[in-house]
Formats: sequence, C-alpha cells, structure tokens
Amino acid sequence: MVDVLLGLQWGDEGKGKIVDFLAKNYQIIARFQGGPNAGHTLYLDDKKVVLHTIPSGVFHPGILNVIGNGVVIDPVSFQAECEEIESLGVDLKACMLISERAHLILPSHKALDKASELAKGQQKIGSTLKGIGPTYMDKTGRNGLRVGDILKADFKARYQVLKDKHLQILNQPEWAEEIQSWEADFFKAIEALKQYQIIAAEYWLNEQLIAGKRILAEGAQGTMLDIDFGTYPFVTSSNTITAGLCTGLGIAPKWVGKVFGISKAYCTRVGSGPFPTELLNETGDQLRAIGHEFGATTGRPRRCGWIDLVALKYACMINGVTDLIITKADILDEMPEVFLCNAYSINGVQTQHFPYDIINDSIEPVYVKTEKWSKALSSCTNVDDLPEEFNAFTRLISDFTKVKVSFVSNGVGRHQLITL
Ligand code: IMP
Repeated sequence: MVDVLLGLQWGDEGKGKIVDFLAKNYQIIARFQGGPNAGHTLYLDDKKVVLHTIPSGVFHPGILNVIGNGVVIDPVSFQAECEEIESLGVDLKACMLISERAHLILPSHKALDKASELAKGQQKIGSTLKGIGPTYMDKTGRNGLRVGDILKADFKARYQVLKDKHLQILNQPEWAEEIQSWEADFFKAIEALKQYQIIAAEYWLNEQLIAGKRILAEGAQGTMLDIDFGTYPFVTSSNTITAGLCTGLGIAPKWVGKVFGISKAYCTRVGSGPFPTELLNETGDQLRAIGHEFGATTGRPRRCGWIDLVALKYACMINGVTDLIITKADILDEMPEVFLCNAYSINGVQTQHFPYDIINDSIEPVYVKTEKWSKALSSCTNVDDLPEEFNAFTRLISDFTKVKVSFVSNGVGRHQLITL
C-alpha cells in the first residue's frame, strides 16, 4: 500500500516532523512533486535540519528514499543538501534513489523565474525564485531535460539548445552573463548527481508494492497552492494533492491507502495571494512571533491568521483525507480566545463553499470561537491531559470537515505528539 501525507493549507504545516514520526511504519518514503521551493524542518535531538528536495526518511536506518518523476531537481542546491546530510553520517548513495524521469532545473530556469516575477510587478506570485515554475513549464512544453539525460553523451549540446531558447525569451545581455556565472557550479553538480542511484523508479516502486512493502508518499507545499485547486494564479506549479502521487511516482490509485492531511491550529501563508482569515493586527504579529513563522526556505516572514475551516473542508474533500493531524496547537496557548472561520460572507451572502474567484470576490470570514485553554497544551503528554476548551476546538474541526482528528502536535520535540 502507499499512504500519503500532505499539507491542507498554504504549505509550512509542519510535515517534516510528522513524516519523521510515521516513518517507522514504512520501508520507503517517496517525494512526488515540488523541488527546492519546499523546506521540511526536522529536529534531530537539538539539531535543526531543513530538507528541500531529499525525502524526510533519510535519518531512519533501513528506510529507502525515492525522489519521484514528479519532482524537479536543482543539481546545485541538491549537491549542497546531500553534502550537509552526508556530513551527519547518512549514506545517501545507499539509501536514496532518483527517478531518471525527474526534470532538471537549469540556471536559466532560475533567471526566467526572476524575470517573470519582475515583469509581474505588484502582481508577483511571491515565488521562492528557485526556478520551479519555468521548469514545469518546460516539462509541459516538452522542452525539459531529465535526470536520465545527464548520462547521455549529448547532454551538453541539449543543455545549450534549451539555454539558447531561454536567452531568446530573456532578451537581455545581463541575463546571459548571470547564467554563465552559474554554469561552472551547475556542471560540477551534474557530475556529483551521477554518483547517486538513478533508476526507473516507477518500475522499482511497483515491484516493491507487489512484494508487500509499505510506502509513504511525502507531499510538499500544500493543497491551497495546488496548480488546479489552489488560489490560482497565486499557487505553485505542481499537483500537491493526493492525485499528484499517482502521476508523480507512477503508482495507480488502487494502491492508495490512508491520506494523512496536516493543518496547523491556525493558518499561515508565505508569498502573495488571497488569505481570507489573515490577521493584519497585533494578534497576527503575536502568532508570527510565538510560532516562529518565518519561511524555512527563504526566511521571509509568514502572514498569519485564524484556522479556515471552509478551506480545510475543501482540502479534505479534494484529497480524500482519512486522518487529520493538527500541528503547532501549543502556539495558541497564550491566546485569550481562539477563533475558527466556519463560513465566508461573499458580497453579503454566506457560504461554506470555497469560491472559484477568490481574487476578485470580497470575502468576509465568519467566525466561531473557543475560550482560552485552561491548561497549556505544551505541558500535555496524552489525550487525557488535554483541556476541555481544546477538545471543543478539535470537535469543531472534525464536525465541520467530517474527518477525525487523529494526532495533535504540541511542540517541536519528536515526543510532543498526542494520539487522540
Ligand atoms: P514557487 O513554487 O517557488 O513558484 O512559489 C509559488 C508560491 O508558492 C509562492 O507564494 C511561494 O511562497 C509558495 N511556496 C512554494 N513552496 C512553498 C513551500 O514549501 N511552503 C510554503 N509556500 C511555498
């Protein structure tokens, strides 16, 4: 079976810690979309490690980690990430497998990402500028280079053809110079990439499924950043939802088992775009400060707001979530009251549907509230410890979404996770 774990908001839900916790139940962890725009934070004892392209199972001996065909790889940042993890004693050459079909991010993709954001001005997406969008555009435009291509004799010639195409689009000599200055590192990193196991991952994964192995597919970003169902056009360029694992790994839907959906107890968003429950006030600042809400990849301050049950229910429906996991619940410990949005008022009409035109509709969130927790969640160690106010909060979530809350994370420590 393949279970999947994914974010139900705008990314940064704390997926890294939960994959790390669930990893013991699986033999294989596989990434199926996204690339170095992701940042999955793990705490190993007191050491903080942020993974970008590499799956979060690498610190578990015996687990094999797959980078699927749906992922886009920047060889330069990938090499740096590999070196950091290897310095911690992990043998990535033994425990990591890379699909030959995964697409490569070229230096000129990063230049195109920057140029595109500059051209959009005020309307910019707030991209991480890692070249993600232009790489997926070349994939669907049928121009892209794939990991398997680096083993071919004509790789450099094919690189040149694609780069020339990009230079024509960029049409400014400064870009040519900038791209050239990145190339030495790029080709060095391509040599480093050749040292790892590059395989036909779709065959390998299906053989493992038939042999009864358990796979956990690890999503990146979040459902509201999905290219089809997110707050378009302020989204990423891949399918971040359950369906993405089928196309991003080559696994048929019949193998899919549990769907672990992760949501923070409140809401954050990094980059531009609609965010109905955003708090542009002291409460938002307080959430950012207590929750250390700064991007794991870019360091940008995250926008903060109350949990949005309308968006969460939509995300549960699109993904077929079987188990909800609420993270960072302890961050609300100091809040005098906690609000949950359970409807939108759009042009004066209330709805519980997530609208298509979230950009132009004027949306007013409608809230219910729970009282201040009578006990700090950070001090709770099991379900019987949880204060009644918090139980009321999780009841509101599961009654609204019709999905049970299975786990609550109440601190950064590996042990701070309560099973409900
Ligand atoms: P891109 O994927 O870098 O093109 O960025 C598109 C949008 O998705 C921007 O608003 C980014 O801030 C956001 N984004 C991309 N990756 C992540 C992530 O891993 N966590 C949170 N937001 C992300």
